Amino acid sequence: MAGIPHDHYEPKTGFEKWLHERLPIVALAYDTLMIPTPKNLNWMWIWGIVLAFALVLQIATGIVLAMHYTPHVDLAFDSVEGIMRNVNAGWALRYAHANGASLFFFAVYLHIFRGLYYGSYKSPREITWIIGMIIYLVMMATGFMGYVLPWGNMSFWGATVITGLFGAIPGIGDVLQTWLLGGPAVDNATLNRFFSLHYLLPFVLAALVVVHIWAFHTTGNNNPAGVEVRRGSKEEAQRDTLPFWPYFVVKDLFALGVVLIGFFTLVYFMPNFLGEPVNYVEANPLATPAHIVPEWYFLPFYAILRAFTADVWVVQLVNFITGGIVDAKFFGVIAMFGAIIVMLLVPWLDTSRVRSGKYRPSFKWWFWMLALDFIVLMWAGSQPPQGMVPAISLIGATYWFAYFLVILPLLGIFEKPLPVPATIEEDFDAHYPPKDASASAAE
Ligand code: HEM
Repeated sequence: MAGIPHDHYEPKTGFEKWLHERLPIVALAYDTLMIPTPKNLNWMWIWGIVLAFALVLQIATGIVLAMHYTPHVDLAFDSVEGIMRNVNAGWALRYAHANGASLFFFAVYLHIFRGLYYGSYKSPREITWIIGMIIYLVMMATGFMGYVLPWGNMSFWGATVITGLFGAIPGIGDVLQTWLLGGPAVDNATLNRFFSLHYLLPFVLAALVVVHIWAFHTTGNNNPAGVEVRRGSKEEAQRDTLPFWPYFVVKDLFALGVVLIGFFTLVYFMPNFLGEPVNYVEANPLATPAHIVPEWYFLPFYAILRAFTADVWVVQLVNFITGGIVDAKFFGVIAMFGAIIVMLLVPWLDTSRVRSGKYRPSFKWWFWMLALDFIVLMWAGSQPPQGMVPAISLIGATYWFAYFLVILPLLGIFEKPLPVPATIEEDFDAHYPPKDASASAAE
């Protein structure tokens, strides 16, 4: 697909020409900022900027925290308390960083669900989507390892449970788990390597974000109508788009400001709201917390992990077929990773020729049920596995897989989509009638 035709940077002064011939960096910045952007983008297109902000915030606060943190089992917990009490504004840095992780995941979930609704993963944006999913996996690894660093009792037991999952893999599990931990149990070697990787991975994320942006700048953005910018001529393309600077920069910064009011309210007035009180008790290998729970952003997948117990018939069947190799624990691990893999494969599982969910009358219902399912799973993951919780988790997990593996492929065949606007301009004008048209309508 040819790129969207638009103006390119032309060096004018002697110095500009001199620089351009040696390092066309101004051209790169110009083309990035002036990229033609569909003019009908709605408020769900702001989360990319919020995510970029969250990444910068995490790196900036993290670097300063690392100056005062000690990755040793005897000192880590106290060093974090030292940051809170003795380092200038240390409490603000720590609370911004801890809640910054929540901001990051909050934004990424809205960003992902936006993509799922508007079909942003569909051709030609599969690579943008896949890089996004890799970003999400790296975010999860980074968040998980970061949570271990304060060396509270939930840090310790969370790490024990999650690394234990790798131990469930038949044959290589024990060796893999020992290799990950740097020893037979969560201990000093684990804390050290988690600190090292927790410092490294955000920079890997930054590199992945560059590739992510490069990918969607190559295809152009998707938009709520799900139709492409016209590329026949520059004039046509201009009727569908506006340059990113200043239009979308101003819109995105405004939205970021609104989001940050909420974020800093959380940081300053209720910084421990999303935290776990048990993590204010130092790690103790001899005292297992009554109820081990991960951070809220892992809960839906944690619920899927726990949903497949030994008394579920599918688990029993698979156990029988594999001669006992796949037991309930390993099944749960496969289900948890599988829940993410099916999302990764969505560009090929969704068979509809219409991209945006706006014009898919049945899809909409299934989509909103998926969003609800995600929240129900989040709740189920936060509860002790008693009473109705296992059954609810199982139904939730089943719907998650059914949506991607059965509903999306079938909907594409059986659903009758609504008429789609021919152009972005048409969609935009339907919302904001051009001045002269509304004037003549009023007459
Ligand atoms: C650090 C994390 C991320 C950053 C900074 C980021 C940034 C961005 C930005 C700036 C955009 C432009 C449109 C917008 O603002 O919404 C975008 C688009 C997109 N992102 Fe992300 N993203 C991240 C993670 C993800 C993840 C986890 C996914 C899911 C798989 C994803 C999938 C997409 C897709 C499909 C688009 C194309 C939509 C369009 O072109 O309108 N991104 N991303």
